[in-house]
Amino acid sequence: MESNGSSSNFLVLGAGVIGLTTALTLRQSYPDSSITIVAKHFPGDRSIEYTSPWAGANWATMANDNGPLEDYDRVTFKKFAEMVDNEGIGEEIGIGRMGMRAFFDSKIEETGLLSQGTGKVWFDKLVGGLTKVDERELPEGAAFGLDFKSTFRIHTQVYLNWLQVQALKQKIKTVRRHYPSLTALLADFPSTTLLLNCSALGSLHLSDVKDTNIYPTRGQTVLVAEPKVPIERMYLRSPKRVDPTVSYVFPRLNGGGVILGGSRQDGNWSADVDYELSESIMRKCCELCPELGRVEDLQVISHNVGLRPSRVGGTRVELESWGNGVLVVHNYGHAGAGFQSSWGTAERAVELVKKALKPEAKL
Ligand SMILES: Cc1cc2nc3c(=O)[nH]c(=O)nc-3n(C[C@H](O)[C@H](O)[C@H](O)COP(=O)(O)OP(=O)(O)OC[C@H]3O[C@@H](n4cnc5c(N)ncnc54)[C@H](O)[C@@H]3O)c2cc1C
Ligand SMILES: *[C@@H]1O[C@H](CO)[C@@H](O)[C@H](O)[C@H]1NC(C)=O
Ligand SMILES: *[C@@H]1O[C@H](CO)[C@@H](O)[C@H](O)[C@H]1NC(C)=O
Repeated sequence: MESNGSSSNFLVLGAGVIGLTTALTLRQSYPDSSITIVAKHFPGDRSIEYTSPWAGANWATMANDNGPLEDYDRVTFKKFAEMVDNEGIGEEIGIGRMGMRAFFDSKIEETGLLSQGTGKVWFDKLVGGLTKVDERELPEGAAFGLDFKSTFRIHTQVYLNWLQVQALKQKIKTVRRHYPSLTALLADFPSTTLLLNCSALGSLHLSDVKDTNIYPTRGQTVLVAEPKVPIERMYLRSPKRVDPTVSYVFPRLNGGGVILGGSRQDGNWSADVDYELSESIMRKCCELCPELGRVEDLQVISHNVGLRPSRVGGTRVELESWGNGVLVVHNYGHAGAGFQSSWGTAERAVELVKKALKPEAKL
């Protein structure tokens, strides 16, 4: 096997943030390979089967495993920082720095913010420091508040389009097609050296390979117009870091409006807007972020529903030999962290590709 990959044919299933980022990361290591992304949905589409455009999104880690999940988020934070601070392309990619004020309604030990094993917050240096919010500024019922000095907010439409343009510039082919099974997919691409499985919840429809550990975590948001008083930071309020009743306000950059969230409804596939839920989201967000003004003054642009690809056991980045000896590297199940862990999980997936394609590799 040539190290530049000139004889490799990679097939990437999925064109969400994960499939696109994985294809781009693969291109770095295999400049001369053939890479094809196959997907039913691409950037610009808005479908309940396609999660990425519905994300908030920001970088606010939920990882506390003192292990790979923290690494995925750390790598991604550094990649965002490199693009925004060093390359200066934040405007073009739709990612900008911003601080965040987060209120929690339980004691820190119960929030899931502390890393297992160390009992400490692992990301304080990364975000430029965490400061406790003065007690007098806490809303009623909050146990404590933290100011993140500087993290990232993502305008998902702009960023997904940018990822796709990078893929096209780097001679990554794109094919739009829905596949009912992996057998059918590989029959159409018989010279595939290795398949990267970035199909999120979609694979539940693949008849021959069902991972029954995956399930949706429904999330609803409201996109509103920017208030005349600019919002200077993001806000989050929740009993715990991961909780069904989380509220958040993410101002997007450059005319992206403001995303108000949220909800986390495990196992719920409903694509219908729940308008009562929208009302309560708007009410809670106006309390959280005074710059928004009154609920009745909000200009609603859209009500959004997305299904986070959750998985019992967490994100799966693994190498496997499937069926007729076809190699598969899985990269799916990112739940509510697909943007903030994208570059880290892609890097891990490509390490596994390299391992699998080494001449002496044995599975
Ligand atoms: C309300 C909400 C808020 C969120 N906020 C954040 C946040 O602040 N930060 C963050 O990091 N993350 C956030 N997320 C999570 C993030 O959106 C997901 O983790 C991420 O989008 C998952 O990306 P993906 O590429 O795995 O899946 P998807 O975007 O769903 O892409 C799956 C791809 O696979 C294709 N596909 C699947 N099966 C087949 C098949 N059989 N044949 C052909 N194509 C197929 C689809 O067409 C699609 O292209 C949020 C999610 C929601 C819903
Ligand atoms: C691809 O990923 C899905 C989860 O998205 C999983 O159900 C399926 O088993 C995987 N495909 C293969 C070939 O293992
Ligand atoms: C799924 O969510 C919708 C919208 O919030 C809600 O109306 C419905 O009752 C939920 N379904 C289940 C089974 O929980």
